[in-house]
Amino acid sequence: MSKDTITLTPLAEDVFNGLQADNKFLSSKYFYDAKGDELFQQIMHLDEYYLTRKELEIFNTHKQAILTAINDGSPFRIIELGAGDGLKTKVLLKHFQEAGVDFTYTPVDISSNVLEILEQNLQNEIPGLKIEAYAGDYFDALAEISERPEKDIVFFLGSTVGNFSQIEAEGFLTKLQQFLKLGDLLFMGVDLKKDPSIILSAYNDAQGVTREFNLNLLDRINSELDGNFNRDLFQHYPYYNPHTGECRSYLISKVDQTVTVDGEDFHFRAWEAIFMEISKKYDQVQLESLAGVTGFKSKASFLDEECWFADVLWEK
Ligand code: AVI
Repeated sequence: MSKDTITLTPLAEDVFNGLQADNKFLSSKYFYDAKGDELFQQIMHLDEYYLTRKELEIFNTHKQAILTAINDGSPFRIIELGAGDGLKTKVLLKHFQEAGVDFTYTPVDISSNVLEILEQNLQNEIPGLKIEAYAGDYFDALAEISERPEKDIVFFLGSTVGNFSQIEAEGFLTKLQQFLKLGDLLFMGVDLKKDPSIILSAYNDAQGVTREFNLNLLDRINSELDGNFNRDLFQHYPYYNPHTGECRSYLISKVDQTVTVDGEDFHFRAWEAIFMEISKKYDQVQLESLAGVTGFKSKASFLDEECWFADVLWEK
């Protein structure tokens, strides 16, 4: 039977499409297997990876101003897309709870395991916090939850939007906006344009953890799709374009070689690249325009002291 007639897993289908393309690519959404999750945790603690630290600084510094901007006195629900370990969000949730505000926290994550750990953790640390977790797809969660009458505030933190191309970001945010009611809010973490050397170092750390994070996808393909990538024959190459704000990571084949995945051969010319990930950085003008084309109005922005990162508050 040919590959066209059997049903492929989403990973297999995306890998075949990406490796068959003229400009080869793999999707960074597949970085996050167990090993990838562990590597991303390490990345967030690296000196060079300022994003997590800066967003935490914003929450610690501006927690009262953020509460004032989102709270109009009526009960609300925070829906956090991709909640993870909730380390940063906890700062805000704790502050809101201590301020006596009436709200419910709905973390959404594809992994029910992650949500169980998060729920336990939050219940211990923030007594009385109302939590209604949702395990599944972001838009399934929004379809179900946003039907309810209370005001929704969607949290989309950590510069996750930066992993979308311009077109993908516009599509995602427009769709998200369509699930919201007038007056609902989006609170979104975005990384800002800055000295290019600072950005490049964040994606090319001295310890090589980000390099491992990229190469791990080749290992994943080897183990899950019976591939034979030799990781030593690929070089990690991040590149920042200060014009577009796109930091793009590539794995570059150091030699002419053929790799087999699930019985299918893929040829790499020497120095041919696989595009792995986009981590887009925005400026004020690009953000205003993104809000406008996706159906939002910009209401407030909260920045760290050096203006490296922003959490923007947009209203439908
Ligand atoms: C999850 N995401 C926002 C990270 C980023 O900065 O693009 C993923 C990452 N890739 C390399 N380092 C971190």
